[in-house]
Amino acid sequence: MKYQPLKFNFKRYPSKEINEKSKEFYEIIKTRRSIRSFKKSKIKDIVIKNAILAAGSAPSGANLQPWHFVVIKDKLIKKKIKIEAEKEEIKFYNYKAPKEWLKALKPLGTNPHKEFLEEAPILIAIFEQKFSLNNNIKIKNYYVKESVGIATGILISSLHYSGLSMLTHTPSPMNFLNRILNRPSNEKPFVLLIVGMPKKNCTVPSYATLRKSIEQISTWI
Ligand SMILES: Cc1cc2nc3c(=O)[nH]c(=O)nc-3n(C[C@H](O)[C@H](O)[C@H](O)COP(=O)(O)O)c2cc1C
Repeated sequence: MKYQPLKFNFKRYPSKEINEKSKEFYEIIKTRRSIRSFKKSKIKDIVIKNAILAAGSAPSGANLQPWHFVVIKDKLIKKKIKIEAEKEEIKFYNYKAPKEWLKALKPLGTNPHKEFLEEAPILIAIFEQKFSLNNNIKIKNYYVKESVGIATGILISSLHYSGLSMLTHTPSPMNFLNRILNRPSNEKPFVLLIVGMPKKNCTVPSYATLRKSIEQISTWI
């Protein structure tokens, strides 16, 4: 099949507006924090749908879009996920995690109990697809982690921009998610995003407000 290039409809902004827009985005995104205490309030499907559509617009290796998003609202499924995640987290905190890792986690004050998995109105399980299946034919995907990482970043940015809060959660290993969510074996859980609104008295670890400076995170040549 021959693919004809499309004319790119690029929206041009005056330079001043570009500066303002970059500042505006930074001011919004810098207020994002991971929260671990969620209100039970409902979130409209359309908001989650738009965020997933935004994530689905991410660049990906050879445009193979190697991702799948499972939106979980069902209470029973959330409960099953909490039970399995806590099993893994108990092993992690009790004997699996190297001392250095536990030391790095200390300022967060996290523990194996994950109430938020049942409290939060929405969980989004993000799966990476090592390969895709088309009529039972395996199609190899490229740069899977990079692509799914970028899509997840866009998903988080969209949800934050829309006024929601989140936690990126990674109980390790997460393969119980395939079983509970009935996902095929070509998919591997990437992260579990917990989405909702913070409880009124919700706190966040103070140390994470310390962001590296522009000099630390960038080199300009
Ligand atoms: C890939 C990834 C995995 C994470 N896994 C967990 C997790 O399992 N549990 C948790 O409480 N926080 C988890 N976090 C959240 C980080 O602890 C948090 O992003 C970091 O401390 C910075 O804080 P902030 O998100 O509020 O800026 C994870 C973050 C990322 C990016």
